[in-house]
Amino acid sequence: MPTKITKAVIPVAGLGTRFLPATKAMPKEMLPVVDKPAIQYVVEEAVEAGLHDVLMVTGRNKTALENHFDRAGELEAVLVSKGDDEKLEKVNYSTGLADVHYVRQGDPKGLGHAVLRAKMHVGHEPFAVLLGDDIIDNRDPLLSRMLEVQEALNTTVVALLEVDPSQTHLYGIATVEPTDEEDVVRITGLVEKPPAGEAPSNLAIIGRYVLRPEIFEVLERTQPGKGGEIQLTDALEEIATGPTWTGGVHGVVFRGRRYDTGDRLDYLKAIVQLASDRDDLGPDFRGWLQGFAQGLGGQADDDQGGEDG
Ligand code: UTP
Repeated sequence: MPTKITKAVIPVAGLGTRFLPATKAMPKEMLPVVDKPAIQYVVEEAVEAGLHDVLMVTGRNKTALENHFDRAGELEAVLVSKGDDEKLEKVNYSTGLADVHYVRQGDPKGLGHAVLRAKMHVGHEPFAVLLGDDIIDNRDPLLSRMLEVQEALNTTVVALLEVDPSQTHLYGIATVEPTDEEDVVRITGLVEKPPAGEAPSNLAIIGRYVLRPEIFEVLERTQPGKGGEIQLTDALEEIATGPTWTGGVHGVVFRGRRYDTGDRLDYLKAIVQLASDRDDLGPDFRGWLQGFAQGLGGQADDDQGGEDG
């Protein structure tokens, strides 16, 4: 009988070098996407999927993150005295959103190393990992589908997105075979950031995982890989190709809207898309945007962007 998953691990200890200097003194996960920090979208997604116990794996600039999910006494008092309930609700919402815990990563030795730091908190249960700079549009639920697949198959589940072949060198890429379910594949191999032209497919791992606790013992012996970092993809490759008791790895192919806010171009797209869709800002913003786009005329460029991480 599979264990009901209640815990989400959110690694937020990366250096965010693609976003310097903005990330010199602040984690990239605190960058605002319209009027909320990216991390709040991610915690909201975990909670919507029923995961109220959140562990953040933090780095040296953790203060802003901790403060965002804590009480803000002085600010609350000012808003109460002004009777501004609307703003007070915005301030208080993130405080009560989830039961948030923190662990330090120490040196940012890679995503696999960050996930390994969750071992004590997670214990012997399956758990979800959500990357703190990867926003999945809440109109296109992904995590709940992954939890459903994990419960049904009791395996490790990752999220896959079809990317343009020119972008495969930026991601972990999967070799897959179909299953009876249209959106679920079985993963037979994984490679982290393959050189251009050498990717086994264009199915890229994006920042959502549902892992079984066996991942920790695999990560403990995973050697530094691409970029000298302990790569979660390398540990998943071992599970995908390893003994059957680990259950292997399945992928849920995601076809919805996703924004990698750690990438400057994607970050800009996220703000434009999400602001356009908002009831409060959308009408004015869309009007302005149409005029602005007309002014650009034929200046469009086909380059899909994506910076090396
Ligand atoms: P990225 O590779 O996007 O993060 O990691 P980065 O290294 O901070 O980015 P750049 O390339 O320098 O701009 C994906 C996720 O894993 C976390 C990051 O915070 C991000 O959410 N991460 C990465 C860690 O928590 N620890 C690490 O050692 C590396």
